[in-house]
Amino acid sequence: MKFCVDTDKNNSWYIGTKDYNSKMINKIETIMFQGNGYVGMRGVTEEPQLNEKRDMFVSGTFDAFPSEVTELPNLPDLLNMVFQVDGETLNLKDGQVKGYHKYLNMKNGELTREFTWIINHKQINFKFTRFVSMDNYHLLASKVTISADKDINLKIKSGIDGQQSNSGTQHLMEGSKRFYEGKFIQLTEKSQQSKIEFVFNSMHKLFVNEVLLNDKPYIKMGRRQIFENYDVDLAAGQIFQIVKYSNIFTSIDTDVKDDDLAEASVNCLKKSSWANYHELLQKSTRAWEKNIWKKNLVEIQSDDITPQVAINFARYQLAANTPHSPNMNIGAKGLTGEGYKGHTFWDTEIFMLPYFIFTMPKIARNLLEYRYLGLEGAHKKAIRNGYRGAEFPWEAANPSDGETAPLWGSADIVTGEPMKVWSGFIEQHITGDVVYAVMEYLNATNDRDFAKKMGYEIILDAARFWVSRLEYDQDHERYEITNVIGPDEYKEHADNNAYTNYLAHWCIQKAIQVVNILEEDHPDLYVTLDKKLDLAESYNDWISHVNKIYLPQPNEKGVIPQDDKYLAKRKIDVTKYQINDQISEIFKDYNLDQVNDLQVTKQADVMLLINLFDDYFDKDVKLANWNYYEPKTTHESSLSMPPHSMIANELGLDDQAYKFYRWTCETDMGVHVGKSVQGMHLASCGGIWSMTVQGFGGVRISNGKLRIDPHLPKAWSSLKYQICWHGSIVKVSITHDEMEVEVVGDGIEFINNGQEYQVPDNSKIEVDDFVPEKVKG
Ligand code: BGC
Repeated sequence: MKFCVDTDKNNSWYIGTKDYNSKMINKIETIMFQGNGYVGMRGVTEEPQLNEKRDMFVSGTFDAFPSEVTELPNLPDLLNMVFQVDGETLNLKDGQVKGYHKYLNMKNGELTREFTWIINHKQINFKFTRFVSMDNYHLLASKVTISADKDINLKIKSGIDGQQSNSGTQHLMEGSKRFYEGKFIQLTEKSQQSKIEFVFNSMHKLFVNEVLLNDKPYIKMGRRQIFENYDVDLAAGQIFQIVKYSNIFTSIDTDVKDDDLAEASVNCLKKSSWANYHELLQKSTRAWEKNIWKKNLVEIQSDDITPQVAINFARYQLAANTPHSPNMNIGAKGLTGEGYKGHTFWDTEIFMLPYFIFTMPKIARNLLEYRYLGLEGAHKKAIRNGYRGAEFPWEAANPSDGETAPLWGSADIVTGEPMKVWSGFIEQHITGDVVYAVMEYLNATNDRDFAKKMGYEIILDAARFWVSRLEYDQDHERYEITNVIGPDEYKEHADNNAYTNYLAHWCIQKAIQVVNILEEDHPDLYVTLDKKLDLAESYNDWISHVNKIYLPQPNEKGVIPQDDKYLAKRKIDVTKYQINDQISEIFKDYNLDQVNDLQVTKQADVMLLINLFDDYFDKDVKLANWNYYEPKTTHESSLSMPPHSMIANELGLDDQAYKFYRWTCETDMGVHVGKSVQGMHLASCGGIWSMTVQGFGGVRISNGKLRIDPHLPKAWSSLKYQICWHGSIVKVSITHDEMEVEVVGDGIEFINNGQEYQVPDNSKIEVDDFVPEKVKG
């Protein structure tokens, strides 16, 4: 695989670069992102740099600026440090730079940057290290070590800089600025519309040759800024260190209940600063190990280290971007940049949740609870559009906000007018995607408590939406769904998008089953939900509609029509738009209306249907659709590639399976300059896990049962992974001709190659006659 960063064949947790002059600065900032799910910051340099994107966000702190949709405010910068050596401000564009090396340790999230700066015939060695604590979510610590070959005078300015904005939009109003006990600086701010209060604190400790200096800083306050300034004379060979401790608290934090946030937060920082940088890092490293790495082992044996680096990277980014409260969800770009404004899409349910469901079900439950808390917003959206039940927002911020998708997008290349963004109105499959994820979660965990408190209600309320959404077609005597956008966003106003129709149908079927379960097993809950959702009437509606919903069937060539008109549209050669190392160029040649009239697909649509409902279609149909749609797909969205890799793997199209796997791994870490500038593609991180464990590793849920049908890429000699199934830990080891399944906890059943296996409590079995998936049938 071709990455824009270096890897180390002996350490799969390392990504780094020795190229400081890189055109990739924004991309490196994105992929060297640091976060703990509460706060996240891009991998920017401490000293300000031209063209940098200096962003730091706290999950869930949305604010809406007048006439703009709500977004995560870019917070005051706590990382900044300006250094002057004998009056020269550190800037790598000046002087000479030797031994530059910037690298991220993905095991514990520590970012390091080191180099020697040669200026005015003096050589000054700098080493910057920093981390965001996984042990104390509010805490950030950084350490800079400086030494020189000659005597130097060092001036340092470091503090809290609130002069940040979201591409010019200033969300935060200044509150107070304070200096406590000659050591702690504090800035408080408040978001303009959502009125969330923020408190930022910093303090510094300075050392020469490990001896703490007692120098008092000179404090300078400006507009939304508070800085400490130090002046130190350093003799040749002496080692200077500055350690910066910072923390952030907000009025929506659920872990701190204190009326005086300003006082409480500074007290927390006092306590943190009793420990040194190393001790705090150790605590954070232990938390990464305990909370994340122990729960989701994936080991790939191959001559090439990059697949292991890719899966480590994906899991690192997911952990760093996943909030800890059910009031918040993972943005399509997490906390890694301004792209998509921190909003959550179906990316979570379809592309990221499989990872959490199978490795950290408690987190999966939180992410689904967010949708439960979002029912109020989903009702608002349904009512506004003239429907009943819960219509989940295409873009979501605070759960109760409902739809937060923007109305206008970029300019049309033909008319020059801004294009209307229809997704918030008619990209309705999201309501089915949420139910799909709820069912996967329930099947994998058997979490009855969630089902009763939230899951059943989500399914029922979603089905109420779908049934109100159906339109009766007299001519065909069937229910249809017209005027939607399916996963393929090039086709606006499509009628009977297959993905949407199948999902709606399946959702209503699930709701019928839920009513039956409630009537039989939970009569009290039935009564409660009946009062809320009019279950008796809804049930009759579902029964009378469900079998009349139009499900586009494979035609004589086995091809499932993506929508009513797709197969009659003009075909063009799409190969030139399929190149992975550039962002799709199709809109340089056509506008959206024109693309709408072509047999060109943005991302897996019918292929995704086949991937999610893989029991519905036989191999011939899968292959026919692969052969038809893949050559027409630009894969402009990174969401396209994981389902393609998984289907290709199942069909024995090994090279294609590996190609799409590789492309996904290269989405953020690859060499393309433009990709990832606005932030990470977190769905593609979920996709890396899914292609590895569900694709090559073969983990699927079929009719509620666990199926493990692996088929490894040729380049891998073995794959080991760990998943949770019904509360037990299942460790699977696969080579090209052997498979072993070990259970820690209660015994489980699984299916391999059509045959059922049982693994008793706390034991392991070898699968006899192990047949790799593609050889079958
Ligand atoms: C894709 C959507 C996706 C969104 C956010 C779009 O380009 O077409 O499917 O949800 O990006 O990742």
